[in-house]
Amino acid sequence: MSAPEYDGLVAAVTGGSAGIGLAVAEELAARGARVASLDLDVADLPDHVLGVSCNVTDRSSIDAAIARVVDELGGLDVLVNNAGISAVGTVEELSDDQWHRVLDVNVVGIARVSAVALPHLRRSAHPSIVNMCSIGALNGLPQRAAYNASKGAVLALTYAMATDHVGEGIRVNCVSPGTVHTGFVDRMLAKFPDPAKEKAALDARQATGRMVSPQEVADAVAYLASPRSGSTTGTALDVDGGITHLRPRATQSTR
Ligand code: NAI
Repeated sequence: MSAPEYDGLVAAVTGGSAGIGLAVAEELAARGARVASLDLDVADLPDHVLGVSCNVTDRSSIDAAIARVVDELGGLDVLVNNAGISAVGTVEELSDDQWHRVLDVNVVGIARVSAVALPHLRRSAHPSIVNMCSIGALNGLPQRAAYNASKGAVLALTYAMATDHVGEGIRVNCVSPGTVHTGFVDRMLAKFPDPAKEKAALDARQATGRMVSPQEVADAVAYLASPRSGSTTGTALDVDGGITHLRPRATQSTR
């Protein structure tokens, strides 16, 4: 029997304590990695995920968190830049503070954590970074001006990072999920006058007729970060229920 895919590898997942990030942390651990969640909130994590307090908007907090991962887990091979926040509004409705906050967490956060991780990734035999993008990078979602702009930047940043580091063997890819049913979505739904109606609209918006599951996104991240995906860099993998490219007729049935 062959060794588990991630045997001997260490992975750090930002925002790994909830939603998609927690599913990613669990999946990488199930595939044999030693895994840390770098998150604002590290209470209630499963035993096999090391909780490391970290704010991706604070460089000194990232320095300390990555140092702790390397020290306690024995290096760093895989970085998953998953931490992200949203803000609801058009350009008329969003404040400067909301713009700065969303871009600081979703875009500059990726750059900061990656910069601190890179010296350690260079020591790995299988270094890889996966950024969490969104269909919002390429689809105009209503009232998500700041969020969509931030994810467009994540897509561009992924290509830029992949180019800068391909020569040193560090692969950089991103996953673009459609709407995934997590706490992130539930909090957003709660802001609408009729959350149930809005949830039904989100389900219906996917060509598959339902929101994406966190596990489906975790499997995509695990594929991209895997040592078996050595030729895959500078790609965006859609896990979007077909929303980006499919235009089924309304009368077509979905299961
Ligand atoms: P979530 O809100 O359920 O979990 C996000 C995690 O990130 C939380 O544990 C939170 O504490 C942590 N976090 C937030 N700010 C942080 C900071 N400054 N420093 C460190 N950790 C921080 O969110 P969800 O839904 O799991 O989303 C994760 C990622 O997936 C985000 O980048 C989001 O934009 C992206 N995404 C989500 C989709 C969805 O429909 N849920 C769809 C497409 C992309």
